[in-house]
Amino acid sequence: MQDVILSGIQSSGKLHLGNLFGAVLNWVNLQNDYKCYYFIADLHSLTGALAKYKNIKEYRKNIILNLLAFGIDPEKSVLFIQSQVPEHTQLHLILSMLTPLPWLERNPTYKDQILEAKNKDLNNYGFLGYPVLQTADIILYKASKVPVGEDQLPHLELAREIVRRFNNNFGEVFPEPQPLLTRVPKIPGLDGRKMSKSFNNAIYLDDDEETVNKKVMQLITDPQRIHVKDKGHPDICNSFMLHKAFSSDEEMQDLRNQCESASIGCVQCKKNLAQKINSFLAPHHEKREELKKNMSYVEDVIAQGNKLAKEKAQQTICEVYQKVGLEYNGL
Ligand code: TRP
Ligand code: SF4
Repeated sequence: MQDVILSGIQSSGKLHLGNLFGAVLNWVNLQNDYKCYYFIADLHSLTGALAKYKNIKEYRKNIILNLLAFGIDPEKSVLFIQSQVPEHTQLHLILSMLTPLPWLERNPTYKDQILEAKNKDLNNYGFLGYPVLQTADIILYKASKVPVGEDQLPHLELAREIVRRFNNNFGEVFPEPQPLLTRVPKIPGLDGRKMSKSFNNAIYLDDDEETVNKKVMQLITDPQRIHVKDKGHPDICNSFMLHKAFSSDEEMQDLRNQCESASIGCVQCKKNLAQKINSFLAPHHEKREELKKNMSYVEDVIAQGNKLAKEKAQQTICEVYQKVGLEYNGL
């Protein structure tokens, strides 16, 4: 049987270049070789912020438009919205019955985020159970491969533990989901920290040319390179790191030579970068504008995705309910 791939993205903000290289482009590539389910994890994005995202539907729409504009093909992949397939929450409940509390309490993302949370209320049951819902997302489609960033590895580990426990009790119902890590270029934010909407250091997929130009000029570069004549150190420069995502190896070697011999200045280097980013984004912006003019098509895509997801999800829930001694009336 063909491997099933599944991945999700939270709808808690606009997509940026970090999301694009860390997730979306990878999703696009996988579409040709696997049965892929991709979804907007809008329920997850309520975590710790239930009353905060009044504009959750706006974020969702924005993400869907960008996913389609950047290459998710609804003819190949099932694209859907988590909250519109309620079987996710049904399976979440069953799984929560067999997940020991200490497994969740020792989850490193739980411990880290509780410490870091500033404007989120994470002192609740939903946050503790975040990876249980994520496990339900994955196994509802019997996915065996999950493209994620390294930060999600603890959640995948937990998903495998929950699956083993379920299978031990009820027979081999679910495959153990493996992470699919692809080597992605590291995308630093403007200030050199990880690109993130909460650090206010992101270049968004929606940013127009002028915004990209302005943001790129703010990039922190080699701090030791004060005068144009100073030789640069590309390996500690954020402009250099970003160039990598948009350039061939030869182009990178040229830039390295120019930087290290001080034959290019940082302003010029950043101008070139902004131009590369803009010309990369341009055709996708065009596609997105076309889609925006045809929102009924976009709505159909999602309705169809929800329907296909639901068909698969119902089969699984039916099987799970039977295993645990219930019957499922939803079919
Ligand atoms: N937790 C993931 C993140 O923040 C989003 C997510 C939710 C997800 N459910 C998933 C990713 C299932 C992969 C599979 O990035
Ligand atoms: Fe960085 Fe480019 Fe300046 Fe070199 S020339 S230090 S790579 S911005």
